Amino acid sequence: MDDAAKRVLISEKEIERRVGELAAQISADYTGQELVLLGVLKGAFIFLADLSRRLTIPRVVEFIAVTSYESGSVPSGAVRLIMDVRKSIEDKHVLIVEDIVDTGHTLHYLMEMLETRGPASIKTCALVRKSGTAQVDVTIDYLGFDIPDEWVVGYGLDFAEKYRTLPYIGVIDTDE
Ligand code: IMP
Ligand code: MG
Repeated sequence: MDDAAKRVLISEKEIERRVGELAAQISADYTGQELVLLGVLKGAFIFLADLSRRLTIPRVVEFIAVTSYESGSVPSGAVRLIMDVRKSIEDKHVLIVEDIVDTGHTLHYLMEMLETRGPASIKTCALVRKSGTAQVDVTIDYLGFDIPDEWVVGYGLDFAEKYRTLPYIGVIDTDE
């Protein structure tokens, strides 16, 4: 399954280096504070695992799960909560950790919802962002990579639930 034709877009080494840089930046910015890392399931699980272990500040890990309503293959923009955070985030410093930002609807929905819960602060971190596909404006405070508008898999990202455990980020060849 994982041997299907794929082109490497971001190598394992590049990801490792960039995750280290992001962790250093986040650790510096949150010095003296405890951070709640809020991973967005499922896609962010590998990025969150690596990022969280390279931070040098006190941190706790929480998860939230959302899904996008789709009409055919065109994203409708509607987002639905599947699993909420288990703990209160009131007065906490929260960093939403996402795998990829495409239209921006998912991150926008999460920001709106979580802001009503009175966190001390809330910021966003995404490993990759697609270029030219944004439909809503969302600030990504910590961004790993900008990529072209292609369907990417690996390092947590899937195509129909496949390829999540590839160590790199790749593009599936369309003639597969
Ligand atoms: P957005 O709401 O359009 O920004 O999309 C966010 C979600 O769509 C991501 O968290 C992913 O779950 C999924 N997604 C968007 N593009 C890709 C891709 O190229 N590969 C895998 N998942 C993607
Ligand atoms: Mg996601």
